[in-house]
Amino acid sequence: MSSKEEYVRQIFDRIAPRYDLMNTLLSFNRDKAWRRVAVKLSGARPGFKVLDVCCGTGMLTLELARAVSPGGKVTGLDFSPAMLAIARERVRSSPFGRSIEFIQGNAMSLPFPEGSFDCATIAFALRNVPDIEGALLEMKRVLRPGGRLVSLELAKPSWPLFKQIYYLYFDRLVPLLGKWGSGADGPYSYLPRSLKAFPHQRELLETFNNIGLIDTVCLELTGGIAAVHVGTKP
Ligand SMILES: C[S@@+](CC[C@H](N)C(=O)[O-])C[C@H]1O[C@@H](n2cnc3c(N)ncnc32)[C@H](O)[C@@H]1O
Repeated sequence: MSSKEEYVRQIFDRIAPRYDLMNTLLSFNRDKAWRRVAVKLSGARPGFKVLDVCCGTGMLTLELARAVSPGGKVTGLDFSPAMLAIARERVRSSPFGRSIEFIQGNAMSLPFPEGSFDCATIAFALRNVPDIEGALLEMKRVLRPGGRLVSLELAKPSWPLFKQIYYLYFDRLVPLLGKWGSGADGPYSYLPRSLKAFPHQRELLETFNNIGLIDTVCLELTGGIAAVHVGTKP
C-alpha cells in the first residue's frame, strides 16, 4: 500500500463513526440526492450485478441494491475495516441487505476477473486514490462490454460569486466544523486540500474519454459543487 493509501485508510478508520453525520451536515443534506442521481445515471436495473468501489459506509451501495432488486447483486468494496463495519450494520436490517456483499480490498487492484459486472460506481473517492486513471482503468476492466462506469465526486463550481462563497465555506468552515463534529483535526483539513488537487470536471471527462470509455457525460449538480461522470465500456 502506498503512503497516500495508508494515510487515507487511517483517516477513514478514524472518522468512520461520524462519517454519515458529517456528510449530511457539510453537504446540507444534498449528498443523498446526489447519490440518487448517480444511481439513475448508472442505468442499474433489476437483475444487474453492480460493483460499488470505495463503498465506505454503504450509502450508495444500498441505493444500488434497491435499483437491482429483485434478482440483482451489489458488491461493495473498501479498504477501511471501520467504514465496512458500519456498512454491514446499515444493511443488516434492510430488505435489500441480502443482495449486498461487502469485501475488504483495494480500488487499485480489484479482486475480480474481467467483465464481471454490468455497472461499476465510485462516490466521493476518486479524490482519495493515488492514481485516478489507474483506478478508472481497473473499474473498466471488471465491467462487461456495454457496462457503465459512474463517478460521483465533489467538483469545482464555475459562477464567480458562488465560487468565492463556496471556497470560503470549504477552506475555512469545513475544517472547523469537521474538527468539532468528528473530534479529529486532520481529516477535515485534508478535504479542501484533496479537492484543490483534484482535476476540474472537464478534465475528468477527458480522462474518461482517454481511457477508451464511450458515450461519456458529465452532469454538474448543485451549481457545480458536485458532478456525476458516466462512461460506457465499448
Ligand atoms: C469519502 S468516502 C466515500 C464513501 C462512499 N462511497 C459514500 O458515498 O459515502 C471514501 C472511501 O473510499 C475508501 N478508499 C479510499 N481509497 C481507497 C482504495 N484505494 N481502495 C479502497 N477503498 C478506498 C475509504 O476507505 C472511504 O471509505
